[in-house]
Amino acid sequence: MSVKERILCIGAGYVGGPTMAVIAEKCPHCRVELVDVNEERIRQWNSDDLPIYEAGLDEIVKRNRGKNLFFSTDIGRGIDESDIIFVSVNTPTKTFGQGAGQAADLQYWEKTARQILRHSRNDKIVVEKSTLPVLTAEAMDRILSSGGDDAQFDVLSNPEFLAEGTAIRDLLEPDRVLLGRMDTERGHAACDRLSAIYENWVDRSRILRTNVWSAELSKLVANAFLAQRISSINSISALCEKTKADVTEVARAIGLDSRIGPRFLNAGVGFGGSCFKKDILNLVYICRQQGLNEVADYWQQVVRINVYQHDRFVANMIAEMFNTVAGKKIAVLGFAFKANTGDTRESPAITVCRRLLAENALVHIADPKALRQVEAELGGLDGVSLFEDPYEAAEGAHAIALLTDWACYRELNFQRILDAMEKPAFLFDGRNLLDHRALYKIGFNVYPIGKTPLRHF
Ligand code: NAD
Ligand code: UGA
Repeated sequence: MSVKERILCIGAGYVGGPTMAVIAEKCPHCRVELVDVNEERIRQWNSDDLPIYEAGLDEIVKRNRGKNLFFSTDIGRGIDESDIIFVSVNTPTKTFGQGAGQAADLQYWEKTARQILRHSRNDKIVVEKSTLPVLTAEAMDRILSSGGDDAQFDVLSNPEFLAEGTAIRDLLEPDRVLLGRMDTERGHAACDRLSAIYENWVDRSRILRTNVWSAELSKLVANAFLAQRISSINSISALCEKTKADVTEVARAIGLDSRIGPRFLNAGVGFGGSCFKKDILNLVYICRQQGLNEVADYWQQVVRINVYQHDRFVANMIAEMFNTVAGKKIAVLGFAFKANTGDTRESPAITVCRRLLAENALVHIADPKALRQVEAELGGLDGVSLFEDPYEAAEGAHAIALLTDWACYRELNFQRILDAMEKPAFLFDGRNLLDHRALYKIGFNVYPIGKTPLRHF
């Protein structure tokens, strides 16, 4: 079969890896290559132990690797030999200089643009897959137009909406695929070619075309709205705790209103993940740059409530455990920022564990998939121990803090856990995952989020 498109993705991370694996699977007539500066990551993509955990990913990679899916560190060659280039490098929050703590750090993205220019000898479509500030495509276009006449470039925006833990399902059955293009003949033609790739498995009615700026901004806004829902329900959880209302009941009552809808209304210890905070802060920064301070303040509050929710959780733990956790063993169940992923970036567990350690507590962490990342995050700190087995983590503990909604924690034998704990035994359910009444009945003092605590004293 002749190769229809030669596709390259620069950045083989949580987005680039799964996205390209699915494109390779669904487009056997295309050649798909992922390149990355991180040699270890590429080595892992080429091994049996992939660098990220996502349900279904292993099978897809193993089925297509070496056929039409390739992983390499040879970025220059990859660029030269491709027609469509996805840029999926990281765009973290800037930690230095102007905009530090808010603006997106575009250095990796800019380096990539320059690399594309340097190694291109034929025309290419360049697709922004990374989440970028609105108007970035203009800068990309300027850099790419600064070379000779050897190659011409068409820049498209195709932001990614997958969520970790459900990445493969989200890619196979997306709510929508968003394609942003310049309103020129070339822009439309480039958009048709990109659309043709997705049309191999996504119905045309779900492929949405907009101008490039709307596509860039829609990505930031989608994340801001999702995070806003979580902060909204978390803010109400604080009020529930003061008023005997139950946040789960409130969420259900409001979620049945079809204008509000039921999803993303689970109160918890706060949202984590590499993107919500960074994308909202970026939105805030853009608004301030445009002189829209009221708009910036409005979105900033979503992040403030999230920090407040982390703080509230730890403060409550300490207060309920007689105002001291020094020397006490706390079993932390779950460290990933959500279930079904090994990713720990911006996980609330980081803040909670660091605060507990600052109080001289001993933190015993268990997680089914994230221990490698926990080691990188907290390994070597005094007071931290890691456990594969949650029962071992809880042995002799004064309290359990459940911080990730792994379904397997629902199945634990809590009587066995309780029997091996110090008494009184405390359980702080940061995800409202467990059966609180049943736990209370067997002897735990239970502290859910947004509900009246169940205490034996
Ligand atoms: P990641 O850190 O997992 O992966 C990015 C990769 O890019 C890294 O492996 C890094 O080594 C590589 N890289 C950086 N500079 C490079 C260069 N010059 N040349 C080659 N490789 C380079 O990040 P991610 O989570 O995949 O996110 C990538 C982008 O996608 C971000 O903008 C993010 O906001 C966005 N996004 C992420 C998710 C998610 O669930 N993680 C979802 C949607 C969108
Ligand atoms: C989120 C978005 O859902 C994706 O659409 C987007 O592509 C992605 O960010 C991104 O740009 O990176 P992700 O962060 O992977 O995806 O996971 P979510 O399911 O959105 O969860 C984020 C955080 O919110 C988690 O910590 C989760 O536990 C928390 N959350 C989620 C709640 O506390 N309550 C809820 O009701 C839902």
